[in-house]
Formats: sequence, C-alpha cells, structure tokens
Amino acid sequence: MTRAPAPPQPEPLAPGEALRNALSLIRELRATGAGRFWIALVLLVLGSLTEGLSVLLLLPVLHLLSQSDGGLGRIELGQHHIGALNLPDWSIGLPTLLLIFVGLAVFQMLFNRGKSVYLSDVLLDFTNRQRLSLFRALSKARWDRVSRMSGAELEHALTGEIERIYMCAFYVLSILQAMIGLAIYLAVCLAISWPMTLITLGFGTVALLVMRPFRRRAARFGHRLQSRRMEQFRTVADFLGGLKSARASNREARHLDAFAASLDQTKHDTREFTRSNATGSGLFQLSLTTGAAAFIFLAITWAGLDLTRIVALLLVAMRIAPRFLGLQGQAQQLLVSLPAWRHVRTLSRKLTAAQDDSAGEATHVPPLARSIQLQDVSYSYEDSARAALDGLSLTIRAGEVTALIGASGSGKSTVADLLMGLIRAQSGTLSVDGTVLDAKALRGWREQTAYVAQESFLIHGSVRANLEGGAHGQLADTEIWHALEMANADAFVRELPEGLETRIGDRGVLLSGGQRQRIALAAAFLRKPAFLVLDEATSALDWQAQDCIAHSVKRIARSGTTVVTIAHRPSMVRFADHIYALKDGRVVEDGRGPELMARPDGTFRLMLQHEGYENVVPLKTGESH
Ligand SMILES: Nc1ncnc2c1ncn2[C@@H]1O[C@H](COP(=O)(O)OP(=O)(O)OP(=O)(O)O)[C@@H](O)[C@H]1O
Ligand SMILES: [Mg+2]
Repeated sequence: MTRAPAPPQPEPLAPGEALRNALSLIRELRATGAGRFWIALVLLVLGSLTEGLSVLLLLPVLHLLSQSDGGLGRIELGQHHIGALNLPDWSIGLPTLLLIFVGLAVFQMLFNRGKSVYLSDVLLDFTNRQRLSLFRALSKARWDRVSRMSGAELEHALTGEIERIYMCAFYVLSILQAMIGLAIYLAVCLAISWPMTLITLGFGTVALLVMRPFRRRAARFGHRLQSRRMEQFRTVADFLGGLKSARASNREARHLDAFAASLDQTKHDTREFTRSNATGSGLFQLSLTTGAAAFIFLAITWAGLDLTRIVALLLVAMRIAPRFLGLQGQAQQLLVSLPAWRHVRTLSRKLTAAQDDSAGEATHVPPLARSIQLQDVSYSYEDSARAALDGLSLTIRAGEVTALIGASGSGKSTVADLLMGLIRAQSGTLSVDGTVLDAKALRGWREQTAYVAQESFLIHGSVRANLEGGAHGQLADTEIWHALEMANADAFVRELPEGLETRIGDRGVLLSGGQRQRIALAAAFLRKPAFLVLDEATSALDWQAQDCIAHSVKRIARSGTTVVTIAHRPSMVRFADHIYALKDGRVVEDGRGPELMARPDGTFRLMLQHEGYENVVPLKTGESH
C-alpha cells in the first residue's frame, strides 16, 4: 500500500449532523445483537429505579425520627401517602426500615456490578463489530482503490479511532442513562408536587439551552482534535517508513519538528477546550445552584409545602441536578469523540461502495491446463489522463516461463495485476483455458495464483511462520527445506541462530534485502500455485543467486506451474520460453528468445547485449547448480 498524499481534512460537523451521527451510532448499537441494546437500557432504567426507591424509603425514616418517642415506634405505612402516591398497608419498625435500606444498597451494588459487566460487553461487541466491518470492507474493496488510499489513514482508523468509537458509544449510553434517570426522578418529583416539578424541568431546560454555545465549541474542538491526531499518526508513519533514509541524511529533525508542532497545537487546542469546558461546567453549576435556591424559596413561600415534603423534594432535586450536569458534560464529551465515529463510518461506506465485484461467492475455476489470455485489454488508472494499457493482447502458455520486459512505466506490473485478477480492465477480457473470467470467477482464479514482488511482505515472526503463512495446510520440514533450497535460501537459514525458528523482526528487518526476497520466493514455491508471478522478485540478489533461482523457476515451470517473470535484468528473463516486450502499454515485440535475439534493434536483444550477453542461454531443465 502506498503512502498516498494526505487525504482531504474532514469537514466540520454541520448543525444537526452531530445528532444524526449520534442516532446512527444508536442504530448500530441496536444492531449489535438480538435485543441486547434494549436489555442494556432496561438495566439502566432498573439501576436508576433502585436509587429512586432508596430515596423514597428515607421519607418514613424521617417521619419516625420526627416522632416524640425519638423514632423508635412503628410506622403504619397505610396511613401515609406522598402526593398522589399511596403507600401499602404495612406496619414497619425503624430497625426493619433501616435493614431494608441497607439490603437495598447491597442489592444495588450487586446489580450495578452485573450491569457494568453487561454494558461493557455490549460496548466491546459494538466496537469490535465496527472494527471487523471496516476490516472486511477493506479486504473486499477493489484493489485499485485501496492501493491509492493512505495506509496511515487506514491504520489510524483501524486502531486509534476505533478506541474513540468505544468512548462515543459509552457516552451515548451514559446520556441515555442520565435521561432515563432524570425521567424517573421527575416522576418521583411529580408524585410529591407537580408545580415544583414544572419549575425543576424549566430550570433544567433553560440551563441546557444556555449551554449550547459550549457544546458547539466542543464539537469544533473534536473536529480539530481529529485532524491533529491524524496528522500526528501520519507523521509517525512517514517517519517510521523512511526512518533509515531520514537518519542517513539527518532529516529526522524535520519529522521531529513536525511532530512537536502538531503536539503543541493539540496542547493549545486542548487547553482552550478545557478552559471553555470548565467555564461551561462552572456556569452550569452556578445556574443549578441558583435554581436550587429559587426552588427552596418557591417551595416554602409559593407552593406552601410542609417540611417533610420540602426535604423529600430537596433529596430528589439533589439527584436531579447532577443528572442535568452529567447530561451537559457527557454531551460535550460525545461531541469531542463523534468525529472519529463519522470518519470510520465514512471510510467504511467509501470502501463498501468500492467493493470488488469479485468479493462475493467465488466460482470454481478448473486447474489451469492450456493458457491464460489477455484479449485486447485497455486499462486506465483512476484520475489518470493516459491509458496504462492500450489494446494489449498476450497469451501465457501453461507450464512455460513467460517474461515481460520493457522500460519503467511501460505497463508490466499492470499486466501482472490483470493476469491475477486483482484489477479489471475497462475493456477487453481475461480468459483461462478459453473461458472468459467474470467477477466471481476472478476470485476463484486467485485460489490458483501466487505473487512475489520486489518489496515482499514478511510478518513479524519466525522463518517457519513466514513460510507456512501462504501454504495450504501443515508443512513437513523436508518440504520446507526443499523450497528453501529452490529459493537459494537454505544455506543462510541454516546459519541463522535458531534456524527455521529464528524470528526475523518487523517485516523481516533482521534479514538483508536479498534474504527477505528469497524467503518470500520460498513461501510462494510452498504454496504450489498453478500460476506464479514474479515482479522484480529477485532485484536485490547477486547474479549467482539469481541464476540459481532462474534454474528453480524453470524447474517449477516444468513440473506444472505457469510462471510470469518481470525483470529489468537479463538473468531473470533470458531463460524464459516466451518473451513479451512492452512499450507505452502495448506489446511491441514477442517471441522465443533466439527469435528475438535475431532482431537487430529488438528490445530484448538490446537488453541482453547491454549486460554483455551475446546469446540467449537456454537453461536445461533439471540442470544442477
Ligand atoms: N496506482 C496507480 N495509479 C495511477 N497510475 C498508475 C498506478 N500504477 C501505475 N500507474 C501508471 O501506469 C503506468 C504503467 O505502470 P506499471 O506499474 O504497470 O509500469 P511497470 O512497467 O511495471 O514499471 P516499473 O518497471 O517501473 O515497475 C505508468 O505510467 C504508471 O505511472
Ligand atoms: Mg512494475
């Protein structure tokens, strides 16, 4: 994947978009599992309800305490009612009442523990679902689209941003919880005094409305933070990607400066946000306190409530206020994290829209027996004015080695991508044994192909893990050593400290470039593909190693694998059975080696002569080296 130019910065959230994004997040949360979202919500409601009950229980306790015998008598619940709420006809003593109170607290603790675990499961499943769906979309998107995307952007979305999505879902649930809690307490409040409930509601709503500018600021900050994080991720990725060349020419300072500048900017933004956030919370708290004072004043002078009710109302109000406060705080936090959700969703949609037609069910393609053919194909890369391939036709005969040669940019790798079905030509066809491959068949066809490029991809693991990665099923040691021998890698692997079990570092950094290429070749040989493409696969090797691999490739071809080899050096093409020379996306020359050598100004002849080869040297099958 290329380090593409920086993608355009995401647009700031438009008004109403935050709500739409939050709703889409709720929809996705609901899709996490059969009714799990609803169970989570019910748990949240129950959580708030048990808190409400314990508050209600304080009323009779207060009543008992206010009795002349010091509260040790019994209370006849049936004789009491709070507002419209009639209490059951029970007689309860103070110790029982307090025991129930404690029991309720224990139940609440256990319940909350269970609830937290359940919610965490739902949140994690939701986050993993998003991660997997992005991964899946990425793996099914058309190669020409994916290869143009920024690797850093994709990496950032799949790692850092996903964590922030977890926080988004957490805040959404917290907001719902606060809203449900509020509704319940307002209902309790209503049971005590409806005019005071309206006043509470009025205060809360006005306070939330007054805080709108602070929420807008949070949304803007979230957007900036998103861009800064992306910028930092890209700087680190570029730095790591080009670490050696950066250090070799003392350019690390430039990366460092860019990183430091971005961190400074983030610090500045965060400080601004923290200040605004703290001002907002302070103001909100102030208005709620003013509201509480006005509330008490109105409750006594205007609503004329008795002391028990005022205390009960205050207790309820003390629970309502933090919920209003919580709503404001959680909304701000959600707005800060929401851009991550929007970005991951946009990326996922973009990838899904670019889904490869061949990503679905694969049609089985019978084993290659005769030939692979490109017929009159034209291919242009997106946004490219010039066609990379222009009416090109060629035939790759099964069991032969076919070489593609030509100047840089002539279209060789594009032909290879078409032959493997990684990209589809805008016009023309790819056929295998005379059957034109449609989208579904292309996927089936890739079961038979293997590809080794100049920059081979190795995993951070042992030599064995790298070799087994591409193979079908378990491999015997003898098979592994045979493949290593074919790739001219057996000698150096034997000398590694732990042989096959030696770990080769991130992308194989503990090996030399040529050693990495040979491991990649051995892995491809082990896959036993019907069709093998080698695109500059030995570019880092010395001529002896290249010769040895050329022999192996020829042997593999004779044992049934069809090979296409692309190289700028003669040693990897001169032994080919058939050669195609490309220029500006067209075939300008093709034939057997000796035939092409007979053409005085032929591309192939010039290529060989330039390197001092006067003749095509046919390699005899089975020739030892
Ligand atoms: N991902 C891409 N996006 C846009 N244009 C591309 C892309 N890949 C290749 N091209 C263009 O298509 C043309 C053919 O490129 P291709 O990679 O097939 O050449 P090549 O013969 O393999 O070159 P080289 O020998 O340098 O590897 C070139 O003009 C190149 O600039
Ligand atoms: Mg190429």
